[in-house]
Amino acid sequence: MLKVENLWKQYVTEDGTPGGGVFGANFEVAEGELFTLLGPSGCGKTTTLRSIAGLEEPDRGRLALNRVDIFNSDKRVAVPSYDRDIGMVFQSYAIWPHMTVFENAAYPLKVSRNKRMSAGEIRAKVQAVLKTVGMEDYIDRPATQLSGGQQQRLALARALTREPKLLLLDEPLSNLDAQLREQMRAELLRLQRETGVTSIYVTHDQSEALALSDRIAVMNLGKIVQLGTPKEIYQRPTSEFVANFIGKTNLIHGNVHANVGVNASAKVSTPIGDLLAYFTAAIPAGARIGVVIRPENIDIQAAHAAPPAGMAAENRFEGVVEREVYLGEIEEYTVVVGKDVRVTVRTSPGKPIGVNDKVMVHFPPDRTIALIEE
Ligand SMILES: Nc1ncnc2c1ncn2[C@@H]1O[C@H](COP(=O)(O)OP(=O)(O)O)[C@@H](O)[C@H]1O
Ligand SMILES: [Mg+2]
Repeated sequence: MLKVENLWKQYVTEDGTPGGGVFGANFEVAEGELFTLLGPSGCGKTTTLRSIAGLEEPDRGRLALNRVDIFNSDKRVAVPSYDRDIGMVFQSYAIWPHMTVFENAAYPLKVSRNKRMSAGEIRAKVQAVLKTVGMEDYIDRPATQLSGGQQQRLALARALTREPKLLLLDEPLSNLDAQLREQMRAELLRLQRETGVTSIYVTHDQSEALALSDRIAVMNLGKIVQLGTPKEIYQRPTSEFVANFIGKTNLIHGNVHANVGVNASAKVSTPIGDLLAYFTAAIPAGARIGVVIRPENIDIQAAHAAPPAGMAAENRFEGVVEREVYLGEIEEYTVVVGKDVRVTVRTSPGKPIGVNDKVMVHFPPDRTIALIEE
């Protein structure tokens, strides 16, 4: 549906030196997909989105919508923004305060050059779209009398009235309070599934990205550093950056003595002993390795208890509980393993384990991920 090839846009800073931007992004978004650009502030998410929308002219690259170029630096194609058939929702809603809900939502239809509609058709279309976002009862209300959540719904309705081929959402929930944000997140997902509109969602919030997306492109410093499903990104990070950015993780340094291929298991020497780990990238002998293990993937039990049947023999270590924090639905332990390696373990509460207890921790080999150290 959308193809982004070698998208390049570098800003120039005020003193004339090269600034930030996006440096060679490549990805494709499939029909009906909810695709997310995720990364820290300043990594180039908005630049990428604005380039796709035609609000920013890239330095080079190619953008194609349904196999038709909307931007191509080699062929000097640059379709103007208003002819791209793309809807966009910004963080700052950009609702017109001097208009009613109806006038706001109808505006794109009234100014559209391609889709001329009668007043009656426009009214019917706006009513239908307001209904999908739960705003049909507010149709004649002045926009100034809307709450934050209602303004956000209206912004979404306005982007949808023209039935765009592609919907771009730039941190649309970040101005809402936490509770409303979660509610709107669920609504957004329902709406996207109902309308089937192909969407690109931008956020710096990893839990939002995991909850919403079919696929996620993680960005850092203007580049896409990993692209995959939420599960792949979470369970098989290919860099320390991604492992740290997405969820809490343990990191243990070590090295390998032989070459290891991609998607293979091999032993890593670490300060706590050998760790059997899964390699998400090919790594040469002698390389410095960062081994990452999620706190909730680590098994913990009293040292004297018999390990459960079926637990892999590898990656079992003795340790001492240094700290215990009760977090409601989970219990978090800090366990000192070996001389001074601290490991965070998260488990369901109620285990008969406390501070100063001797424990056995186990890192399941397929959840113990080896990466090149950054
Ligand atoms: N209009 C601009 N002029 C100069 N630099 C810009 C401009 N817009 C963005 N940048 C820089 O480009 C980089 C990427 O910005 P942006 O795409 O807005 O990041 P994100 O949306 O991921 O937070 C940042 O370093 C930012 O400072
Ligand atoms: Mg941004």
